[in-house]
Amino acid sequence: MDYQGLLYEVMDEALRGGHAHGRVADYIPALAEADPAQFGMAIATVDGEVYGAGDWEQPFSIQSVSKLFSLTLTMAEGGEGLWRRVGREPSGNPYNSLVQLESEHGIPRNPFINAGAIVVTDRLLELTGDAGGAVRDFLRVESRNAALEVDETVAASEALHGNRNAALAHFIASYGNLHNPVDAVLRHYYAHCALAASCGDLARAGLFLARHGIRVDGSRLLTRSEAKRVNAVLLTCGTYDAAGQFAFRVGLPGKSGVGGGILAVLPGRGSVCVWSPPLDATGNSVLGVAALDALTTATGWSIF
Ligand code: DON
Repeated sequence: MDYQGLLYEVMDEALRGGHAHGRVADYIPALAEADPAQFGMAIATVDGEVYGAGDWEQPFSIQSVSKLFSLTLTMAEGGEGLWRRVGREPSGNPYNSLVQLESEHGIPRNPFINAGAIVVTDRLLELTGDAGGAVRDFLRVESRNAALEVDETVAASEALHGNRNAALAHFIASYGNLHNPVDAVLRHYYAHCALAASCGDLARAGLFLARHGIRVDGSRLLTRSEAKRVNAVLLTCGTYDAAGQFAFRVGLPGKSGVGGGILAVLPGRGSVCVWSPPLDATGNSVLGVAALDALTTATGWSIF
């Protein structure tokens, strides 16, 4: 398959659609500075090839895409215990919603809404002593980019404007579902959300899921069954209350972030990352979803 030609076609088609109805995230002020016209896309295959188009080598704030890696590392280190503290059902609510937490006794619906990701970060902090560092180091190795780093300006901006996440964390803690102090958990949560990586970095870093749990060095990170489970939760919860729409249009497990990135996986074949900052009302990149829709329509790539 001519992946390179395909990427150019898909990019042109997505850009023709325009992003006029999207809005760059501004509830974290440092993110509001992103240029809405930037667009990048990269494909990494299990054979080791990487293809890119547009701004595919430009680092951006990965935000909630990091939750795929924090969940993976927690599962790899801590096994099944996590699932007593966080569910795995779609929430049908916005990613930063508080409403279900009270009726569900401080057990977040899934690991990808903010509440669930905060619990995962708490568990990873228990297991490693440095949850933010663990995600950063993992990304550095898997992406083969040792320079990958936290954007401290974004992390500080998140902390300064983090009333909603602080409320979620304190509420979860009130049910005894955080084991570390709230401040420490939030610091590590912001640290992994504020990592800066490019489409090329993330496409490479997502390959372990396409390889059913095998890392870049050939070692096993997740069992085949665990890799299936991560992919399953990505499909059902990775794009929040638009997960049904994403499965309908794209047909791949994927994780979005409010920086405008989306990382999607085709098990056995490869992974693809797209980045365009303007978001729809559910917090997913407008052109990112459109480009993945065009790519999967052109190639027939789907898990279905
Ligand atoms: O906690 C936050 O609000 C951000 N650090 C991450 C949110 C996010 O990316 C949700 N995704 N669409």
